[in-house]
Amino acid sequence: MGPVIVVDFGAQYAQLIARRVREVQVYSEVVPHTATVDEIMAKKPAAIILSGGPASAYSPDAPGMDPELAKQGVPIFGICYGFQVLAQALGGTVEATGSREYGRTEVAVASDGGILHRELPARHQVWMSHGDSVTKAPPGAAVTASSERTPVAAYENPDERYAGVQYHPEVLHSPHGQEVLRRFLRDIAGIRPEWTTASIVDEQIGRIRTQIGDGRAICGLSGGVDSAVAAALVQRAIGDRLTCVFVDHGLLRAGERAQVERDFVAATGVNLVTVDARERFLDALAGVTDPEQKRKIIGREFIRVFEQAERDLKAKGDYRFLVQGTLYPDVVESGGGAGASNIKSHHNVGGLPEDLQFELVEPLRLLFKDEVRRVGLELGLPETIVHRQPFPGPGLGIRIIGEVTHDRLETLRAADAIAREELTSAGLDRDIWQCPVVLLADVRSVGVQGDGRTYGHPVVLRPVSSEDAMTADWTRLPYDVLERISTRITNEVSEVNRVVLDVTSKPPGTIEWE
Ligand code: XMP
Repeated sequence: MGPVIVVDFGAQYAQLIARRVREVQVYSEVVPHTATVDEIMAKKPAAIILSGGPASAYSPDAPGMDPELAKQGVPIFGICYGFQVLAQALGGTVEATGSREYGRTEVAVASDGGILHRELPARHQVWMSHGDSVTKAPPGAAVTASSERTPVAAYENPDERYAGVQYHPEVLHSPHGQEVLRRFLRDIAGIRPEWTTASIVDEQIGRIRTQIGDGRAICGLSGGVDSAVAAALVQRAIGDRLTCVFVDHGLLRAGERAQVERDFVAATGVNLVTVDARERFLDALAGVTDPEQKRKIIGREFIRVFEQAERDLKAKGDYRFLVQGTLYPDVVESGGGAGASNIKSHHNVGGLPEDLQFELVEPLRLLFKDEVRRVGLELGLPETIVHRQPFPGPGLGIRIIGEVTHDRLETLRAADAIAREELTSAGLDRDIWQCPVVLLADVRSVGVQGDGRTYGHPVVLRPVSSEDAMTADWTRLPYDVLERISTRITNEVSEVNRVVLDVTSKPPGTIEWE
């Protein structure tokens, strides 16, 4: 059976809906609303979900729904704006009633809650965000929930296999939303939950074997989750015909090289080549203080070192494939746009030079981050790798404000290791997205230690909470944890005599300092 297709009407929720569908173990993909009925049907959808969107359903330039889509015999579920366009397509009515609802709203379940709302609390909270309202459900559909201002907050027609809700079931502010979604998929669309981590692993291994045949592949390990899981999958599929390359650019945090060389290799048995390029990167960064310049240099050197490693391997065997840890959010076509794929042009170290003579293997292309982590655990990778917090490719190079030198790197590494240790032992790793520690190397701060005045440097703690790094808030760490970090850093790291806390959200501040 094909995927559940989420048609993206331009709200920010389409990917979230796809994730929620997958959480009930049903495979789901996002397509832009510009996809034609033929394109959607070519995917043999098990069901179609119409997402919310910013437009007004009857404004002339609203992204419409081709009514043909509702006649294909495929179960359909409409959410918010999708609920309205579906109602219109099936003969219901949508109007600007002037009764807008935004945010937490209470719905009342009808005496017959139908399939989707049966036995849910008679009144419960949902998340609404709409100006227009459905004033008449499609003929033949039962209205199963309403709110004070929206008489038709949910309709369903199980015989014709369509339904919808005005609210957003996919967000956590609708506590029963996930159950409603699950009931649609299971009880109206009749889809069995078969998208499990084990099935993902099996399927991907099959695909990798088909693609690579008896060829050889290279995978660059960054120390991050994605490349580690991609490599582990390919290792399962083709064994020692995979070689991983790990570049130590000297901008890593304490223990990271060992984590790759020891823990990752122990867990996977992968062939690993480590390139020690620490001197080379330090030389290239000498005298450079401009952040973008640093990023360019690090990126450029990284590619050169990696290409040399590739040439060395190619001289030894027929390496034709390159493994990349590209994820679904990087490739999904979303938004209501002209269908242009919004492939993320991340300023990532390890970005591919264009003339590379490789065929790409991207075993995580269909997966969201949480699924990647589950696959990693299924493959036996250690928690410390699977739940590693994000760390930028240019590493500590962009966390030293000022020139990057060997000694400054040592200082920052020591301070960073203390902060990480204390956060881990306080059990806070899952509460924070990441916590950059930044060395203000060009700032001198005065301190007093023993009898003498010191001129050291401040470090900044930047703990942030975030869903996706696009926006972030500073994490309210407990004072006692902050105190332990501060005391230990100022005692144990001789160059640092001050620890300060960054209390800026993003926006306006970015997560990194440069
Ligand atoms: P900002 O600082 O833009 O960071 O709020 C958002 C996320 O991206 C990471 N980041 C980078 N990652 N190369 C990377 O691979 C970079 O140059 C880079 N700059 C920032 C940052 O750690 C955060 O997770």
